[in-house]
Amino acid sequence: MPTTNSELSQELINHIRTSVDIVEIISDYIPLTKKGKNYFGVCPFHSDHSPSMSVSQERQIYKCFSCGAAGNVFKFLIDYENISFKEALKKIADKAGIAISLNISTPKGNKDYQKLYEIFQTSQLFYQNNINTKEGKKAKNYLQSRNINSSIISEFEIGLALKNNTMLSKILQKKGYQESDLIKTGLVNKNSLTINDVYYNRIMFPLWDLTGHIVGYSGRVYDTSDTSKYINTKETEIFKKGELLYHYHKAKDEARKQGKIVIVEGFMDVIRCSSIGIKNVVATMGTAITPKQALLMKRLGKEILLCFDGDEAGAKATMSCIDELSKIGITPKVIRLEENLDPDEYIQKYGEAKFRLKLDSPINIMDFKLSYLKRGKNLKDNIEVSKYLNNMIEEINKIDDPILQELTLNKLSEEYHIDIQILKDQIKKPEKKTEMKKEKSKEKSTKYIKAERNLLYYMLEHEKVLQIYKKNVVFLPTERYRKLAREIDYFYKKNEFIKLADIMTFVSENETLTNTINEILSLNLKEEYTKEEIEDYINTIREFNLKTEEDRLKKQIQEEINPIKKAKLAQRIVEIKNMR
Ligand code: CTP
Ligand code: MN
Repeated sequence: MPTTNSELSQELINHIRTSVDIVEIISDYIPLTKKGKNYFGVCPFHSDHSPSMSVSQERQIYKCFSCGAAGNVFKFLIDYENISFKEALKKIADKAGIAISLNISTPKGNKDYQKLYEIFQTSQLFYQNNINTKEGKKAKNYLQSRNINSSIISEFEIGLALKNNTMLSKILQKKGYQESDLIKTGLVNKNSLTINDVYYNRIMFPLWDLTGHIVGYSGRVYDTSDTSKYINTKETEIFKKGELLYHYHKAKDEARKQGKIVIVEGFMDVIRCSSIGIKNVVATMGTAITPKQALLMKRLGKEILLCFDGDEAGAKATMSCIDELSKIGITPKVIRLEENLDPDEYIQKYGEAKFRLKLDSPINIMDFKLSYLKRGKNLKDNIEVSKYLNNMIEEINKIDDPILQELTLNKLSEEYHIDIQILKDQIKKPEKKTEMKKEKSKEKSTKYIKAERNLLYYMLEHEKVLQIYKKNVVFLPTERYRKLAREIDYFYKKNEFIKLADIMTFVSENETLTNTINEILSLNLKEEYTKEEIEDYINTIREFNLKTEEDRLKKQIQEEINPIKKAKLAQRIVEIKNMR
């Protein structure tokens, strides 16, 4: 039986949930507009453009018509913030002013990876310790020369891998970790005979996953002219560079508070920004931004500021990041730094105040593109002008915002003395948005499966329906539906009421049950039900059960040779026939 939390009673958990309004909580993350009885917003759990997520004040749940995400206020926080149930509970309790004491020591994480996280913790202690030893002097001097003082070193948990390339391996082996687990972390290598450390003689910058476990490192050279400036941990089960953003777990609260997130390329840029008090910063770590990272950015704040390196590569990265974000309906803003500087260098050269000024005056994406696409073109030559205008038309066609389209067209028309109509003729009419995929999986369902689902749909919200179901002692043929029905009943026995939002918490540790509820909710049946309808569902299910039983007996009778037993089976079949 799933108990969501052994430290707190079900009652208290429900009380905490009822003390807040899901509409208010979700509004802190995504803008909601009221339409009829419900509120609607753009779903943060898939690449959504139009508001597909509905939030019901009455039922205190949210539900996305498009991707099927659904849940109560806890589930929203758990998925949105990548936090554990306990952390979500704590947040809501804090909001509601309810004091609870919870032991939130271990962040959410897959239990299978516990060993790997531990190995990283051990390594981390080793690396962090090294930097304060005699052998770490040179590394510390290097950091000092880059204006990274001890407090930054400890905040970002910067460490050092020593020159010897077997030390960490030995420590880890001594601790009793299996070789296969060590190799899985990407921290040690195995050649024919020995196992060695991947990192030696490098300054170690830990890389965290979304919830704050160290899952990799970026090791920087500091006293040799090694060809590779940084060595990153290879992709592993727990470290997937394209699925995380550097500093995400620390930046997210501040970003949401300010409604603003700054995206930079390098983790040194994050460290520098943070050292001057700008904490709502994450880094892509020099890779082309992936759709997953775009979604993460979207979750961090309403306003996304792209502040990549001032060089050509940074401008190019800005272009592709804009495109990836616009695919999910986000229009970021752009900051460009002069003299090819990156944020770290810019802050060191021009100081905090000037950088903050930059952050406060971003340019819009179209103005950025207007100037970016000009580079390398001789705009005194009409051929090049035409190329440029065509490039720009392409970009204008990519955006969803008709007003920004018009404004940009005006600029082009004025600057190059082109009749605006000629430009406008090349702008694609927005396609009619296809109807929301209301019945996206209109899989053929038999009559009885439908009856099971519909019955559960109402059982999840009405005590009366549960009672009709119980009175009729009907057996649900589909296992996952049967289990859900049992769980609803169990919830009722413990709580003496039916409330969908609380049932969701009740089953939250069981993925199958949670998914089944989402599946049932996606039916979107009408609110009202009649007693007759419910009885109809039950009769359909019962009819199906009898038919199944009859078929089973018929098969049995064919195989039976004992005449007495045969007669008994025949009798039973008649009885069943009479029941139908
Ligand atoms: N990067 C990398 N390997 C490299 C170069 C860069 O993995 N050889 C990644 C790092 O994650 C780095 C990011 O790309 O944070 C940005 O690269 P770059 O601008 O070169 O790094 P800086 O932040 O400027 O680092 P530094 O100031 O130490 O040179
Ligand atoms: Mn740099």
